[in-house]
Amino acid sequence: MNTPAEPLTEQNLPSMPVRKEFLTFGAPLIGEEEIQEVVACLRSGWIGTGPRVTEFERQFREFRGTRHAVAVNSCTAGLHLSLLASGLNPGDEVITTPMTFCATVNAIIHAGLTPVLADVDPVTQNIDPHQVAKVITPRTRAIVMVHFAGRPCDMDALLGLARRHRLKIIEDCAHAAEASYGGRPVGSFGDFGCFSFYVTKNMTTGEGGMVVTNDDEAQVKVKMLALHGLTRDAWNRFGDDGYRHYEVIECGFKYNMTDIQAALGIHQLRRIEQNWLRREAIWNLYARELAELPVILPARPEPNTKHSFHLFTLQIDPRACGRTRDEFVRNMHRCNVGVGVHYVSIPDHPYYQRTFGWTPGDFPHAARIGNQTVSIPLSAKLSDQDVANVIEAVGYSLRC
Ligand SMILES: Cc1ncc(COP(=O)(O)O)c(C=O)c1O
Repeated sequence: MNTPAEPLTEQNLPSMPVRKEFLTFGAPLIGEEEIQEVVACLRSGWIGTGPRVTEFERQFREFRGTRHAVAVNSCTAGLHLSLLASGLNPGDEVITTPMTFCATVNAIIHAGLTPVLADVDPVTQNIDPHQVAKVITPRTRAIVMVHFAGRPCDMDALLGLARRHRLKIIEDCAHAAEASYGGRPVGSFGDFGCFSFYVTKNMTTGEGGMVVTNDDEAQVKVKMLALHGLTRDAWNRFGDDGYRHYEVIECGFKYNMTDIQAALGIHQLRRIEQNWLRREAIWNLYARELAELPVILPARPEPNTKHSFHLFTLQIDPRACGRTRDEFVRNMHRCNVGVGVHYVSIPDHPYYQRTFGWTPGDFPHAARIGNQTVSIPLSAKLSDQDVANVIEAVGYSLRC
């Protein structure tokens, strides 16, 4: 990926399917309703945390079936606050997956806790409960699981471990807004569920996140810590029912969501099922059309689960197709199709190697997936023509 791609043209390689315009990976589908709501918010004079955030939180807790939902400015912030509100002590061990975005692990570190990795299942790419069981020690206090690519984790096994060892459960649902397991929404199983509304996610507020919980006290704590540690509803001090003093009761953070973000979220959430259906159709089409290629496709969703269809990942094994993942990525770019890599495994990064002594060899499944994985576009915004272009580009990128 570091070497610049040779500019190929239709002339020197006639069969190359080059799109006229670059297809941006993960481009969001923004409707007229969102645009109008943002404009109305701007005109209202109240663009900070306010009534639209309250409405978005109401909708979201209904959506996930939890008692509470607290809007924040990112999933990273949500994970950080959830860990802080879990009542853990400095240095307590928290088990998580090596196949995730760095935010998951960084939140554990920022909360003053010690991350411990457990390798993933090579098929589901989710944290493997057998590996989790192996790394539980008397100091283990929590598991942060990631429903990777939108596929729910093995909740029965993980909840069983958590019960047996009295561990807190924090669900990183950044990929899994719509997912469910055994008919129950993900995010509602654990002590906390954290969602991301980053631009490429299944629903977006530009940047943003949500923490859901059924615990009344934890909800109050997350909300308070998300706004500097101020007393309840301090955000409303400039409202029309008179100025109210606040008190600082903890040293908190600046993690609150704004009404401009919530204006997007309210309408993104209203169309979430419609967008999921479109991604499901594209996911199934990819599964069918790419089935004969020498790449590993994602496993079918497990029975009795709802997959969020956030990512469609291919694994490019050079021994099977004669291309490295990075060569494939370069070829896709030549075809003007943007792709993503989710993710180079956590132990591959120098910071974690330096700080925790982790090496990729200790987590072989995550390491291999991290070297071979590539995500092709999967967004409700894709037209049928875009999808056809992606399929053609994948075929070409493996051949050329
Ligand atoms: C698995 C996972 N967790 C957490 C995050 C962090 O989300 P945010 O960007 O909303 O902080 C991401 C973002 O890409 C993610 O993929």
